[in-house]
Amino acid sequence: MIQADLIVEGAAELVTLAGPTGRPRLGAEMRDLGILRQGAVAARRGKIVWVGPTTDLLTAVRPVAFCKVIDATGKTVMPGLVDPHTHLVFAGSRENEFAMRIQGKTYQEIAAGGGGINATVAATRAADKADLKAAARRTLDTMLTLGTTTVEAKSGYGLDLVTEIKMLEVIRELEESGPATVVPTFMGAHEVPPEFRQNPDAYVDLVITRMIPLVASRKLARFCDVFCETGVFSVQQTERIFRAAQAVGLELRVHADELTDLGGAALAARLKARTADHLLHVNDDGIHAMAEAGVIAVLLPGTAYFLHLQRYARARDMIAGGVAVALATDFNPGSCMTESLALVLNLACTQMRMLPAEAITAVTINAAWAIGEQDCVGTLEVGKHADVLILDAPNHEHLCYHFGVNLVESVVKNGKVVAEGGQRLV
Ligand code: NIG
Ligand code: FE
Repeated sequence: MIQADLIVEGAAELVTLAGPTGRPRLGAEMRDLGILRQGAVAARRGKIVWVGPTTDLLTAVRPVAFCKVIDATGKTVMPGLVDPHTHLVFAGSRENEFAMRIQGKTYQEIAAGGGGINATVAATRAADKADLKAAARRTLDTMLTLGTTTVEAKSGYGLDLVTEIKMLEVIRELEESGPATVVPTFMGAHEVPPEFRQNPDAYVDLVITRMIPLVASRKLARFCDVFCETGVFSVQQTERIFRAAQAVGLELRVHADELTDLGGAALAARLKARTADHLLHVNDDGIHAMAEAGVIAVLLPGTAYFLHLQRYARARDMIAGGVAVALATDFNPGSCMTESLALVLNLACTQMRMLPAEAITAVTINAAWAIGEQDCVGTLEVGKHADVLILDAPNHEHLCYHFGVNLVESVVKNGKVVAEGGQRLV
């Protein structure tokens, strides 16, 4: 018999997301959540050891002494959520810009006027590492209570060697102290810092010759990201940075075609980036190229909403065109101040017409693929980490449909209950 130290039983819906492996879910596959009614899941030492109907549990699984048993009668049980695009670490906040946008200023106008990313860069350069870490820890705890158990986190508010490294060290320490899994991305090319405004190419040189080699030699990041955008980094500059990153083993992801159609998606396809993110202005060729190259689209409807962009990414065209779609918060102080993937799910459905099942696939297994964690998280299958949510909801659709509340009742990370009733347990 299989031994277990954690059992969740009697779920009205056990959303396993079991399905084809070897690549992210595409097209109609995104609608198949592998739901088991009256399902149960068992874990031992942090890993899933058994999944099946509750009626088979007693004959298949033997609870060890002190086994934790959670009764999920009438509830939905699903994998922990994966947030594959966040700017987790920063100092300060930018609520002043929120008010300016309400009064009609655009994101680009605010940035040109001394706000934007560089405002957060100034605060982050001045901040102590301990303070940065404490703020990010609070954010991760909030995310955890909202069901997010795995997070990608970018640097990019340092824009100098010392502060970029400081940010990546904070990310590493957060990952080491758990419980959330935190996957690090180097984003030294998030913006041109003020001291290089007159000579952006010299900043690109600095990223390539000093930052990338140090980040790689200290193994501080798994990915390299660039804000490829009119007025920020051109396609040519982005490609130079990406070639240097690839040469030292970093995988690529890119902020692409967010505010203008610059060809970021096509570049991502050409360089076989793992993801292209935002994509509000991507053209048909870009979508086609991403599908051909297997680049995952990470869509961030919270940002379009928060910046009043009056446009959302064409999720339906992407899904129909064979692009794997993932969803993320883009959590950051300027363009999307939310930790809530549930809010993102609601926006994905209402604003991009994704079906609830597609949206849930996009924050679980496809999001796991988007950060290279597909073998560890994103589904409830034997061998994966026991990252499990118990929702106070009779079915998965409620997570998209019932908005503005937290339906996450319990959060299990690596087989341990880490949050309950919206509170982080310590
Ligand atoms: O993904 N687009 C660029 N970077 C962030 C915004 C960061 C900020 O405004 O501080 C984004 O939206
Ligand atoms: Fe971003």
